[in-house]
Amino acid sequence: MKFFADTADIDDIRKLAAANLVDGVTTNPSLIKKSGRDFIEAVTEIAGLVKGPVSAEVVATDHAGMMKEAERLRKIGSNIAIKVPLTPDGLMTCKALSGEGTMVNATLCFTANQALLAAKAGAAFISPFLGRLDDIGQPGIELIADIRLIYDNYDFATEILAASVRHPIHVLEVAKLGADVMTAPPAVIWQLFNHPLTDKGVESFLSDWKATGQTIA
Ligand code: E4P
Repeated sequence: MKFFADTADIDDIRKLAAANLVDGVTTNPSLIKKSGRDFIEAVTEIAGLVKGPVSAEVVATDHAGMMKEAERLRKIGSNIAIKVPLTPDGLMTCKALSGEGTMVNATLCFTANQALLAAKAGAAFISPFLGRLDDIGQPGIELIADIRLIYDNYDFATEILAASVRHPIHVLEVAKLGADVMTAPPAVIWQLFNHPLTDKGVESFLSDWKATGQTIA
């Protein structure tokens, strides 16, 4: 499963990249707002740092407007994936851009039928939002399972990009279900290392090693 960083914070991305923990990046208008950065500038910097897909979201709501914005965004680099909302105009845009060889990430997916539509429109990625479904009392994880089943039934090439991932259990569950990618805030990716027995083990091995008085030369 590929790991995408769900952030527009360049320092956080740099730290993950140094540890080989980032295969791509997803941004959205809220993350851009949080970063305080200029959108084009931030995405250009991220796309230069990370080789894998970097999602940049259109904000127009009509097809012509989305195409115009996508035209500007895809000039940034060949690793830019244009993020479009799962609306009729969004999927018209998806079909047009995919036909021209541009990666599209269909975002704000909350049903398996929406995911089916996105695959038929040639999306490179479908982004089902787990956490936001959990927030309203619907099990987000079931959506991933349904999409996996449908995509496998028809051999769709669209990659399932589990989004709105909020904690390590989400990561574990989507990995078990065979999501192709998950995108999570950097803090969640670092949390995957955590186990108290790992910390305790390192501590006791170091203290025993110190007691031997040896060094590794
Ligand atoms: C994904 O592309 C979205 O940017 C993101 O995962 C949304 O997460 P949130 O629901 O925690 O805002």
